[in-house]
Amino acid sequence: MLSKINPTTTQTWEKLTAHYQQIKDKKLTEFFDEDPLRFETFSQRFKNILIDFSKNQLGKDTMELFSRLFNECKISESIEHQFTGGKINRTENRAVLHTALRNISKSPIYLEGKNVMLSINEVWKQMEVFSNKIINGEHKGYTGKPISDIINVGIGGSDLGPQMVYEALKPYHQKRIKCHYVSNIDGAHMAETLKKVNPETCLFIIASKTFTTQETMTNANSARDWFLEKGGGINDISSHFVAVSTNSEKVVEFGIDPNNMFVFWDWVGGRYSLWSSIGLSLCCGLGFSSYWKLLEGAHEMDIHFRNESFENNIPLQMAAIGIWYTNFFEAESEAILPYDQNMHRFAAYFQQGNMESNGKSVDRNSKKVDYSTGPIIWGEPGTNGQHAFYQLIHQGTHTIPCDFIGFVNSHYQMGDHHPKLMANFFAQTEALMKGKSKIEAQSELEAMGKTSNEIKEILDFKVFEGSKPSTSILGEILDEKTLGSLIACYEHKIFAQGIVWNIYSYDQWGVELGKALANELVPMVKGKATSKGKDASTIGLLNAYLELSKSR
Ligand code: F6P
Repeated sequence: MLSKINPTTTQTWEKLTAHYQQIKDKKLTEFFDEDPLRFETFSQRFKNILIDFSKNQLGKDTMELFSRLFNECKISESIEHQFTGGKINRTENRAVLHTALRNISKSPIYLEGKNVMLSINEVWKQMEVFSNKIINGEHKGYTGKPISDIINVGIGGSDLGPQMVYEALKPYHQKRIKCHYVSNIDGAHMAETLKKVNPETCLFIIASKTFTTQETMTNANSARDWFLEKGGGINDISSHFVAVSTNSEKVVEFGIDPNNMFVFWDWVGGRYSLWSSIGLSLCCGLGFSSYWKLLEGAHEMDIHFRNESFENNIPLQMAAIGIWYTNFFEAESEAILPYDQNMHRFAAYFQQGNMESNGKSVDRNSKKVDYSTGPIIWGEPGTNGQHAFYQLIHQGTHTIPCDFIGFVNSHYQMGDHHPKLMANFFAQTEALMKGKSKIEAQSELEAMGKTSNEIKEILDFKVFEGSKPSTSILGEILDEKTLGSLIACYEHKIFAQGIVWNIYSYDQWGVELGKALANELVPMVKGKATSKGKDASTIGLLNAYLELSKSR
């Protein structure tokens, strides 16, 4: 089982606290002045990805202390527990084996005496056969036409992962197939998507681990009603609806043929289910071989994470740096900034990955923690973010560690867009680190011919403190394998941080209360039940809603 050590009671934590006092005011540029080899020391290579940690507020001694902290918190044992099917999702009494889903070596992995790779292999085959039939047009709709549009109906992990990957890998899209992702219970989402597709040529993938999620089931029912209304018959449902789920009973109850069901297992967390048959839309939209390369990239990162010592272990170092800022510098958020338009859902994906995993305040001893855990994750692609929120990163009052992600090569040959994009990437990390001193700002203003009075008025606003931390991740090109490795890298970072923070990263009880209340409120919002017993504000809102709804 996982250790139950409060990290703040370890000897190393105390040393880190003292170390923080020594290092906190040191300028990032001073670190570089002291060590001409800093870039070499603090950058790592993984396949064709370079990760540069050198623009972070830390030295070799910081990382040595973190290596010790991770040992004290039993990180290696925890990693082995996870990879070998230990029931580390304690509060749900489940193993956590998404790494098995990308174990393309197919070496056996045992869970309760059974080799899970056998059933995974079967599902892989089923996904390959099915997606090939969709792509080559063999799978026909009810009027004999091949399928052209896949609509994935899911939410949270059953939506964000496949959608993020589908967007990120646009250059690898199958020409004839288009994937759509419907998640929101707001009818606008389904209605607008249905406008774009033809019932004769569309296939709905109802993707839900539980097959009970209100949003997904409501959307699935509306999709089925639309299909039947538009000319499809009950017997045609089997060619237009498939399910991805762990709940066969509910799938059959919904009316989907069990032969059209792609299973997965309770040891796959919702936010890690991209790697399970929840990836079916990707097999259809990208082709199975592209999907396989994605798994391959993730598997390579799994091997790295499981085997490398802290000194060479990229996810562990990322985890350490995150803890350094969260718990010592009191940073409350982290920005993920991909300099790649197609990665526009990457930060959103890791909002769930990170915040649903480590947004916890009760530790593994059932005690309330007295230190910070998971940070707030946010971000948008560069350069759009630069013209929106970077102001706050450069000159605001918060410490915001940033991950910049970019690629040497672009899939798009568009004039000099790419070098300009990457110049912005490098410029931002440089500006964040170096800042601009008062003296520099003053000479700039003087060179512009400003009078001393004008300079006095404006000077303070022109200063950039600098020493704002960033990590740069530079890949060769955004391909399937690279994306797979990057996703797995962030996943392992999150897991390692959860181990140190002494929390359970694989449950998500915090989403339950709102779900239960929403179900209770549905009849009240429909005006079919009294709001008696609710608080005054909720009653007030309901009354206003009901009154205003009468006026239309
Ligand atoms: O509400 C949170 C959550 O349980 C996520 O963890 C999950 O990804 C999502 O809902 C969707 O759940 P399901 O796949 O069971 O519909």
